[in-house]
Formats: sequence, C-alpha cells, structure tokens
Amino acid sequence: MTKKSVLFNVPKEFNINDERVSVDELDSQINPYLHNDKHQHDPDDVAALPSPKELPQITAEPKRVRVGRPLRHVKHKPTKEVTYINNQIFPKFSYEKIKFPLKPNTLIVHVKYFAVNPIDLKIWNYYTSDLTGAKKGFGREYSGEVYQVSEEGDQAAAFEEGDAVTGLYYHLFNKGCSASHILIDLNKDPIVRVDDVSLSLFGYQKLGGWAYNFATAFQVLNSITAGGLNSESTVLVNGGSTGTGLMTIQILKHYFHVSNIVAICSGTASDLVTQCGASVVIDYKKEFDLIKSISTLLTNGKKTIIDRHGNEVEVLYPDKKFDIIVDYLGGTTLLEAHQQILNDRNGTYLTTVGDKRANYRSKEFVYGSGTVVGGGYGRGALLMFGGPRINYKMVNFDGSNVKNLNNLLKIGLEMIRQSQLQVKVNSVFKMTEIKKALDKLKTQHALGKVLVEVEDF
Ligand SMILES: NC(=O)c1ccc[n+]([C@@H]2O[C@H](COP(=O)([O-])OP(=O)(O)OC[C@H]3O[C@@H](n4cnc5c(N)ncnc54)[C@H](OP(=O)(O)O)[C@@H]3O)[C@@H](O)[C@H]2O)c1
Repeated sequence: MTKKSVLFNVPKEFNINDERVSVDELDSQINPYLHNDKHQHDPDDVAALPSPKELPQITAEPKRVRVGRPLRHVKHKPTKEVTYINNQIFPKFSYEKIKFPLKPNTLIVHVKYFAVNPIDLKIWNYYTSDLTGAKKGFGREYSGEVYQVSEEGDQAAAFEEGDAVTGLYYHLFNKGCSASHILIDLNKDPIVRVDDVSLSLFGYQKLGGWAYNFATAFQVLNSITAGGLNSESTVLVNGGSTGTGLMTIQILKHYFHVSNIVAICSGTASDLVTQCGASVVIDYKKEFDLIKSISTLLTNGKKTIIDRHGNEVEVLYPDKKFDIIVDYLGGTTLLEAHQQILNDRNGTYLTTVGDKRANYRSKEFVYGSGTVVGGGYGRGALLMFGGPRINYKMVNFDGSNVKNLNNLLKIGLEMIRQSQLQVKVNSVFKMTEIKKALDKLKTQHALGKVLVEVEDF
C-alpha cells in the first residue's frame, strides 16, 4: 500500500479580539523562548504562558489472549507408542491417533509408568512372523492420569480429567500400554482411581507395576475350592520372590489371615519374602534337596533359619502336610513328591506355569506353552495312573470380567492404604531403553518389578 500525503491550507492570520494577528506574531507571543534562546521567562508572567494542553487520552487496547481452538476442530489425540510386528524386528516408536469424539464410557489415560512382565515376552515370542503387519505392544499394567473423559456414560462420570489412576490393559494380541496415551473402554478395561493416601504411599512408579501380579495372585487363591482357605491353612509358595509369589504371600497373610506360609526362594530375597509374610523360607540355592528339606520341616514341625541379622533362629511350623501348594516356577519336582508334602484328600496344587519349567530366555517361552506337556512325571502321567487324589489346577489370569477385576483392584488399593501391600521396584527404564527393560526381565532373576517410565508427549 502506498502512503498518501495530505495537504492542509494553514491560514496565515487569525482574528483575535477583532484584531488581525499574523501567525508569526502570535507564535512569538506565545512561545518567546522558542524564538529567542536568550529570552528569560518571567515566572510571574503566568498569563503569557499558553494553557497546558490536555494530554491525549490513551484508550487501552484490549489484551489479546490466546484461546484454545474449540474442541470440535480437534479430530484426534496424537500418541507415541512402542510397538512391534514380530520378534524378528526390534520394537520401535510409532505415532498413532486416538480419534475424537470419544465413545460413551471411554477415557484417555496419559500413561506415566508401565511394567514389563513374562507375558510380554511370551506374546512377543509368539509372533515369529506376522504377515498382516499389525502392531503389537508391551505392558499389561500401568499408572497414569486421566487426560480426557467421554461426555456420555454413567461409568465415565466417575472420572475426571487429572485423576490419578492405575489399571490393567490386557489386550493380549494387540497394542499394550507401552504408549504415551491409551484409550480405556470402561466396559472392558479394569481401572481404578487412586486416592491421595495410596498415591503418597506408593507413588506413580510402584502403581505402574502391581496390578497384574496382584490380580493373578488373587485369582489363583480364589480358585481353591476343596477345603477352602482359612487362617489355619498351610501353604507352600514355590517361587516366593517372583512378583506373583510376593503378592500371593501378602494376600494370604493380610487378606486371608494365613500365618503358616513356607516360601521357596533364594537367600537374597529371603528378607523381603519374610517381610511380606512368609513364616519359613527355604533357600533353593543352598538346600539342593528341596523335598528332603520340606519333609524335614513338616515332620519336625520346626526349622532353623538365618534371620536378617545373620542369627540362627528356630521357627515352628505345624507338623502336617501342606493344604495348598502354589507354584510360579513350573516343573514337576513338587508334584511328583505330592504324597510326601501335600494333603492326600483336600490338598490343592495350583500352578500358573505348568509341567514345564519356565525359561524366559527360550524362544519356546510362548503364550500357551505352559500348559501340561505330559512328559516326565507331569500331570499327564499322574492322570494316566489313575490320578492323584489331589486337586490340580493350571490357573491362567482371566482378564475378561471387568467388574470382578475392578473389585480386586479396589481391594488392592485398600491394602495399600492399610500398609499391607508392598511392591519392590527392581529397575526403571526410559521408553527408549525398552530393550534393556526386556533384557533385565529375561534374566529371570529380577527381584522386583521392571518398570518403564513414559516420557511426556
Ligand atoms: N498363566 C498366567 O496367567 C500367568 C500369570 C502371571 C504369571 N505367570 C507365570 O508365572 C511365572 C512367574 O511370573 P512373575 O512375573 O511373578 O515372575 P518374576 O517376578 O519375573 O520372577 C523373577 C523371580 O524369580 C525368582 N527365581 C528364578 N528362578 C528361581 C528358582 N529356581 N527358584 C525360586 N525362585 C526363582 C528370582 O529370584 P532369584 O534370582 O533370587 O532366584 C526372581 O526374583 C512366570 O513363568 C509367568 O509366565 C503366568
């Protein structure tokens, strides 16, 4: 645009009190010192000064405030995820979208921490190839904050943006919660709001790695039918320091008030396992003949253990066979010895692994591999000879009943509030270090949870 110059016709003379006065004359009267530097202004000659002009009134311009674009213009929430297609190609970051508007009874969680579990290795190993190219993810449990809630839905009304939450994300053959944001379907995905007390006691980190082991352990114990579970029950936990084993011991102790708990674990873990509620610990690294050690305990009704201060202490134990054996390692050593160590009639043997010993590093450690293999003296062989008079159950985590799982998570939060539940964190990795996290888990000797911190996105 070109500037336009505007010309005014300035009059040369003015009429003042019926006299014609020239502009120059007028000017020299009003501002004498402008025309003569030497002219001294007489301070008493006030009339000679022109009246001060009003300063122009500056009308303040309204401040410009940046406002968010109306939501209807935003079509999706971008997310950053760690995904893989098969176990030949290493997981990488992918950028996805959660579409708006959210369907009724759904919400978006901004994930803060998720844990990796053996099930993640199993699913990963499952995909030796996948021609569909569908993306899969890691992580079945998480902690985070509610990012957005659907406008419709009774269940959604119980949540607000900014709520601290923890939950299970059991989308086995799909994407996991290894993502900056996940879409939660409240009719399918178990999730609970975390109260301030639980949050201050556990923090987001531990809340990212408790739910899966807790819910599995609860389901395992809930599957005991014969004889039930009561404060007099005697229980052996094989793999007492596994994530699920630690939860089992704490649930047994504080929820079912069982005090006779024997745990098999290494000496390194014995302090933690005892703190969680085991009355006797059998160190599998020192007591090579496990069956003999267990039988001696059950026959003598006592055992000498080394306490946390390094002192030898004698602990008493009921001189009777176990009512329940819970197994988180797999294999058949204990099963084969059931006549020596497990009650004949109502004895229950529960395993989440099966006849074959779990080996996290094996390519054969795949989803569905744990079930009875029938080899050796496994359940298959036992049944062939008429079957033992024990209750044997292979228990798999059931992620289908959202109502039931929400209740379990609420029980868990209450136990956290009562300081009855602890979670040991083994290590925390960044999303970019997912390989390190999986390698740590694969050692099968990570005492405590292997967590991944999700960076802000
Ligand atoms: N079927 C299902 O739905 C289901 C659900 C959950 C878990 N599971 C299975 O249950 C098993 C346990 O899972 P998790 O996540 O709880 O385990 P985890 O936390 O990964 O277990 C690691 C712990 O195992 C201990 N350990 C290793 N070898 C041992 C041995 N020979 N004797 C005693 N302890 C030993 C290690 O302690 P040390 O290094 O001190 O020995 C370490 O603390 C896995 O096989 C998993 O796949 C199945």
